[in-house]
Amino acid sequence: MLLVTGANGKVGSRVIAALAAKGFKIKAMDIDPRVERYKEEIGAETFVGDASSAKAMKEAMKGCDQVFYIPPLFSYQETKIAQIAIDAAVEAGVRQFVMLSVINPQMNTMPHHTMKLNAESHLIYQGLVHKFSYTIIQPAYYHHNLVVSRLMEKGKYYHYTAPNIKMAYLSCDDIAEVLAKILSEDSHNFAIYPLCGSDYLTPPEAMELFTKISGKEIALTYVTKENLEENITKYVGNDSYAKETMIRMHDTYAKYGFPGNKNVLEWLLGRPATTLESYFRKELEKEGYAVKG
Ligand SMILES: NC(=O)c1ccc[n+]([C@@H]2O[C@H](COP(=O)([O-])OP(=O)(O)OC[C@H]3O[C@@H](n4cnc5c(N)ncnc54)[C@H](OP(=O)(O)O)[C@@H]3O)[C@@H](O)[C@H]2O)c1
Repeated sequence: MLLVTGANGKVGSRVIAALAAKGFKIKAMDIDPRVERYKEEIGAETFVGDASSAKAMKEAMKGCDQVFYIPPLFSYQETKIAQIAIDAAVEAGVRQFVMLSVINPQMNTMPHHTMKLNAESHLIYQGLVHKFSYTIIQPAYYHHNLVVSRLMEKGKYYHYTAPNIKMAYLSCDDIAEVLAKILSEDSHNFAIYPLCGSDYLTPPEAMELFTKISGKEIALTYVTKENLEENITKYVGNDSYAKETMIRMHDTYAKYGFPGNKNVLEWLLGRPATTLESYFRKELEKEGYAVKG
């Protein structure tokens, strides 16, 4: 059985649907009881619990021989939570642990990247000492950060990256396909895979592409650092770590962007990476909108 943490989240929900369709037996874990829906939706086992509790994680691991660990977003406890999950997996005798990290975790101007790098480090040491199989996947900027239904309804896109800064995009469908491969083959131990698609675009370029496919004009608004600071509680509440992280992410993106190379993903997939254009097409069709071209 495969334990998937962060199961209600944006990545978790997409990956679980894809893995269930491929026949994986899944135990879905999340802090939010809505995770129970997976029982009916895909016949999964479920576990509601706080991943920062070692007791809860040990309980969650029971009966699982594989783990796909998805960390929480902007948590000041992110490294600790990962360590707890890894240690619980060791105790439960899990044979394979796959961790979701982030592309360029070495970019230490962003606290959540450093948190993930430290989590990776713990996984490597524990994997070597306890001799279980580990793999780290490092995703680029998700396609689904661009919410198609919202773009169609509002005709507006608020972006944190400066208008001339490029982001490297990645499809969650491609993450799921790579993950299924990693989880069903024996050859991915010790591997660290940066995962990135072929689109490397500024916000205006991404929206130009969207307009070409949807026919919908999109007004872009750059959320400047000053504007972000003024309104930050709207985005991350009052959590001081999340606020600081978001501001430092803004600074980093403004200066460097978010780069990545598609080679590793395409080698693993054995086909070209899913493009942002095909993500837009698929989402528009799913939402019942007309697609151009
Ligand atoms: N956005 C990007 O482009 C990008 C790129 C690369 C990597 N990443 C990383 O990908 C990861 C997953 O992202 P995502 O968008 O799927 O995040 P998400 O939608 O926030 O999903 C995380 C899930 O974990 C749950 N959770 C939070 N704290 C928990 C706890 N203590 N115990 C158990 N469950 C807990 C959350 O529940 P609540 O919602 O109730 O808190 C949520 O359901 C993040 O770590 C992010 O940094 C993001």
